[in-house]
Amino acid sequence: MFLNTGTLESLSEQGFAVHHTFFASAELQQLSHYAHTLKAQGHLREAGISKQGVMVKKIRGDAIKWLEPDTQEPLEQMVLACLEQIRIALNHELHLSLHDFEAHFAYYPIGKSYALHVDRFRQDDARVLSCVIYLNHAWPCDAGGELLLYRHQQLVLKLAPTAGSAVLFRSELFPHEVLSAKQERYSIAAWFKQRPLHRPHL
Ligand code: OGA
Ligand code: MN
Repeated sequence: MFLNTGTLESLSEQGFAVHHTFFASAELQQLSHYAHTLKAQGHLREAGISKQGVMVKKIRGDAIKWLEPDTQEPLEQMVLACLEQIRIALNHELHLSLHDFEAHFAYYPIGKSYALHVDRFRQDDARVLSCVIYLNHAWPCDAGGELLLYRHQQLVLKLAPTAGSAVLFRSELFPHEVLSAKQERYSIAAWFKQRPLHRPHL
């Protein structure tokens, strides 16, 4: 079972939840190592660049690698399989109709942040639930890099990006930001999606 009662209750009552057991600690070790390798081998790309290659707006300092559905990399396949199980469990337990998800590895160099934003785009309402899974084993309490989640201009969650923690929240309801950190910060971010109700004019 990927989602326990506490997580489900918190999600349906408050719209967000902190979850601790999507991956076992051995898997987290492997994922953390893999994310470091992606960085070392130059597989991460600066985020915030549109498909046309134009820099949209520099509000984020992370570098990312999307997980492609046809990946041959066993660890990526494992992550996709886990997210798929979560998608099915969310549909079942919370009566949602999430039909898909997208996910990427993210790396924030020291000193980089992600300014206040909402994960659902103005022209595209596909994203329903955001999920961030953290991959940082040693994260001292003064290292910064916390995720801050807001609702109605009030801070509702401040979460350090420690391996073993993950957060789920309703994409359209919670503006959030990532504080700059004193050490490199690794994570997997995923978005569970519905069929878009509103299509942008092309
Ligand atoms: C994002 C995001 C939060 C985090 O990638 O959209 O808000 O804690 N990430 O990494
Ligand atoms: Mn976000």
